[in-house]
Amino acid sequence: CGIVGYIGDRNANEILIAGLRKLEYRGYDSAGVATIAPGTNQLQRVRAKGKLNNLAQKLEQQDAHAKPASIGIGHTRWATHGKPEEHNAHPHINTIGSLAVVQNGIIENYHVLREELKGRGHRFVTETDTEVIPHLISEFLSQNTLLEAVRIAVSKLEGAFAIAVLCADFADELIVVRQQAPLVIGLGEHENFFASDTPALVAYTRKILALDNGEIARLTSSGVEIYNFEGDRQRRSPQTLNWNPVLVEKQGFRHYMLKEIHEQPGVVRAGLASFVNEADRINLKLPDRILDQIQNVQILACGTSWHAALVGKYLLEQLVHIPTSVQYASEYRYAPPPNLPNTLVIGVTQSGETADTLAALDLAKSRGDRCLGITNRPESSIGRIADSILDTQAGIEIGVAATKTFMAQLLMFYLLALDLADRHQTMPPDAIKDMVIGLRQLPAHMERILESQERYIEQLAHSFTHTRDFIYLGRGVNFPIALEGALKLKEISYIHAEGYPAGEMKHGPIALLDEDVPVVAIATPGKVYEKVLSNAQEAKARDAQLIGVAPLEDPVANETFDHLLPVPIVDEILSPMLTVIPLQLMAYQIAAHRGLDVDQPRNLAKSVTVE
Ligand code: G6P
Repeated sequence: CGIVGYIGDRNANEILIAGLRKLEYRGYDSAGVATIAPGTNQLQRVRAKGKLNNLAQKLEQQDAHAKPASIGIGHTRWATHGKPEEHNAHPHINTIGSLAVVQNGIIENYHVLREELKGRGHRFVTETDTEVIPHLISEFLSQNTLLEAVRIAVSKLEGAFAIAVLCADFADELIVVRQQAPLVIGLGEHENFFASDTPALVAYTRKILALDNGEIARLTSSGVEIYNFEGDRQRRSPQTLNWNPVLVEKQGFRHYMLKEIHEQPGVVRAGLASFVNEADRINLKLPDRILDQIQNVQILACGTSWHAALVGKYLLEQLVHIPTSVQYASEYRYAPPPNLPNTLVIGVTQSGETADTLAALDLAKSRGDRCLGITNRPESSIGRIADSILDTQAGIEIGVAATKTFMAQLLMFYLLALDLADRHQTMPPDAIKDMVIGLRQLPAHMERILESQERYIEQLAHSFTHTRDFIYLGRGVNFPIALEGALKLKEISYIHAEGYPAGEMKHGPIALLDEDVPVVAIATPGKVYEKVLSNAQEAKARDAQLIGVAPLEDPVANETFDHLLPVPIVDEILSPMLTVIPLQLMAYQIAAHRGLDVDQPRNLAKSVTVE
């Protein structure tokens, strides 16, 4: 979910809607705002099911008659408790409708609290966990300031959350709380803002105050006070964001996803420019205590980042001979593997806010492991948990399906593996240098793939708009790319797709194959090339249509595949950074042909800040 708030002289509804637009990637099943117009001391609440435009339209109709509000809070929802209906949309209010709350997170003890509150005469009208908060706060309001009432109420909540409160009886202030869910305050001139994430703020201010977990802030138009949960005042200096709002515009592309696919060569160049010098030497700018004497690596991630981690494992084990495990962060949290000495734990996350990844990393840290975070959002919450951050240099990504951030994570794993191969002397310096040179050549290859294949893939996508199932096959370093290709298709086209190690197909998935189930095989020259081609033949013998991500130059590949998505021949170990691109394009084009909302697929969110 995303939350925003404003206090100042401007039209609050306009600022809330503009802010929510920038946060819509965090959830888009319903949205709402609560505001107070000057001198009215009346809370106005407007909510709408579905995309933000529905709310914006509702507000436009109302605004014509109403005096513009100058204080308000807003929310865009990704449902956890209760269906995405208008009555479950935030803000939620107390029984008499004088106090409104938006929340991002989960209140774990809401059930107990709700029963208690009902017993004391509070009336509940939604299925959400959030609704307990306004009721709880209002119980403490008669004897306390709003700040104090919120502080007492929060001490009774369990879970991970960020909360914002607006109250008709305190119409000149907003209260926000941060407890394990993101919240940033933006400082203006005679106005102040807050939001779940910085894109909602950059149009108005670059001066931000990041709240820490366990803090409450009181915002007025003239200032911000921060307190801890015990009520002690906290001091914080503002930070300046060096951020260009243009980064979050579509720049002529039909979708953010397509724009971000096209940004990948630039992302790789930027990553290389940051971490490799002119003599092709790698310097990750990490302290030696992070990288020295590592005997084991454990990587924690979710979703697409987990796929990047699998490529990382391949590289660390094959190039550096360090035993490496890759864990789903949500699994690691409750079943961490045995603690091993000299372990480097790496958390990989594009948003830097995934609740499972943050909690898993916290656990690793409490077990005494050194923790490295790989992210494109160094200013996010992972920056406060990890001992060091490797900033992938990809910048923020808006399309919900990750593309350029995945590419950037891959590059970081290549650089990390080569740096460690140097430290552990598992590769001769010349071989390391050759691989760095190989990496430098990738952006030009990527550009060629993008230029030459876009039209063809767009045409090809027509044949698959009604397909119901896909199988993706890859082996070795390209097995994770098969998983990623399948995930991309699933996420945005809603077509069922499975990725498998090509050699494993015969042990189960082959039973699914017939002429209606296309098979995508990634076959790039190297150790497992012929093996993958044979596995593809096995699928062909079962009438499956074959799509190959393979070199154009090879007659066998040409003959094997019904459709060829050519990639240039590079060192096999570097090939994932190329093979993923046609698969991203294919998923994109199929989803676009199906007329789907590519950037905001149903049920998904860019930042999953709940467990
Ligand atoms: C969400 C997104 C995925 C992403 C996953 C992990 O589910 O929809 O695209 O891969 O979270 O996100 P992270 O920010 O931790 O990389």
